[in-house]
Amino acid sequence: KQIAPTIFVIFGGTGDLNARKLAPALYNLYLEGWLPEQFSIIGTGRTQLQDEDFRKKLLEDINQFSRSGKAEKEKWEAFSQHLFYQVSDLNDFKTYKEFGTRIKHLETEWDTKANVIYYLAVAPNFFPIIADNLAKSKLADDSQRVRIVIEKPFGHDLESAKELNQLLMRTFDERQIYRIDHYLGKETVQNIMAFRFANSLLEPTWNRNYIEHVQISVTEQLGAGERAGYYDGSGALRDMIQNHLLQLLCLVAMEPPISFNADEVRNRKVDVLRAMRRFSPDDVRLSTVRGQYGNGWLEGKEVPGYREELKAESNTETFAAVKFFVDNWRWQGVPFYLRTGKRMHQSASVISIQFKEVPHFMFPPETADSIHNNRLIISIQPEMSIRLQVQAKRPGLDMILNTVDMVFDYKGTYSSEAPEAYETLLLDTMLGDQTLFMRGDQVEEAWDLIMPILTTWQGRKSLNFPNYSADSWGPETAEALIARDGFHWFTLPLNGKK
Ligand code: BG6
Repeated sequence: KQIAPTIFVIFGGTGDLNARKLAPALYNLYLEGWLPEQFSIIGTGRTQLQDEDFRKKLLEDINQFSRSGKAEKEKWEAFSQHLFYQVSDLNDFKTYKEFGTRIKHLETEWDTKANVIYYLAVAPNFFPIIADNLAKSKLADDSQRVRIVIEKPFGHDLESAKELNQLLMRTFDERQIYRIDHYLGKETVQNIMAFRFANSLLEPTWNRNYIEHVQISVTEQLGAGERAGYYDGSGALRDMIQNHLLQLLCLVAMEPPISFNADEVRNRKVDVLRAMRRFSPDDVRLSTVRGQYGNGWLEGKEVPGYREELKAESNTETFAAVKFFVDNWRWQGVPFYLRTGKRMHQSASVISIQFKEVPHFMFPPETADSIHNNRLIISIQPEMSIRLQVQAKRPGLDMILNTVDMVFDYKGTYSSEAPEAYETLLLDTMLGDQTLFMRGDQVEEAWDLIMPILTTWQGRKSLNFPNYSADSWGPETAEALIARDGFHWFTLPLNGKK
């Protein structure tokens, strides 16, 4: 795969996203030989900086945040020659004219046309002004070569998500728009498709006849912390379930695409979202749980509650659990339990697919020591593994069965380190491959699905918040949600912690 001559324009060049994710990812792509010789990154922001200051800043960021550790002097020197900075005022047309001049200048120097990628690492309220000015200054004309990358939130509800899509479509074609859901770039998440669709033994059992229920759990020890101000307008349902967790659900539930083509894959995912059962207010009461953390202790440290971090009263949820159904032939009647929360006992993203009981257990009951139904566990992070839990005979003269794990563990299997999600996603943007990006209709469908939950929640204000303490598994009602169906939340023991 070869990348064409490329100019990356990063709006929010001095910001946090560039420091932590984009610059380290681009540097690692450079080290691994992916970037072409004709390649420039133009960072832009309000801060008055010279190219040299910008380079110095990014070097510090890369030293701090890159998975490859401290940058080597020679390699850095060579890479930094591709970095430039331009002071900008996003409201001022002149700024965009200057971009135009710079781009032309580079193209003349390279003696070729370049692909131009505009990365909007800025707050969403700047999206309209940037898109309009790019259009006005004719910087977005060539749909073959110009791309725009945006980060979530893609709207705040269905209506604003539609508005954002319409706004972008005024200037860009869907094929030019790269909406990032960074979960889709994670190595283990990409592997769900490989695992499901490159192995023949799973498909016959991958349905309502064999699968009893599915769990998708993304828990974090981290609190809202300094982001509390922003987070308060969002909450766990919007921040995590509307995007990351539903995308994981789509990967588990989708029909096999006919090819690994961006639109084929995204069509199959949007089919899942469309098939998901919409909630009535009663369903919301029965099938959802929300929570907010109070203060407590985590890993030996005292941590403040959400309201203390926010320094205000708030009914925003920092935990959400939802029981969904997918109404189609494959999944009718199979519950999908999703949960996510902050300040929880473990930081772990895990999918657990639980199979049904054997139709007839032929062994005497006393042989079953501690067994449970087969489970397939896809651990996304921090452990990167796929485990199949099966029953086996314990060695010995007695016939005793217990459950054991058949494990595919990345660490033990591969010696190379997995790339960061942003390396994959930036590379795909440069290659023009949209498979791992959110299409406009997917975003809208996911909002459509959660809107009844949001509106019902908004209407019910008398909450008992905070209702879970740091280092717990969320509110007790979350356990009840799943226990009513005879199941319990699965957790993978990590570093001896259950
Ligand atoms: C982001 C959310 O999209 O994902 C954050 O806005 C959350 O609140 C983060 O902490 C989790 O991502 P990861 O990659 O650390 O699991």
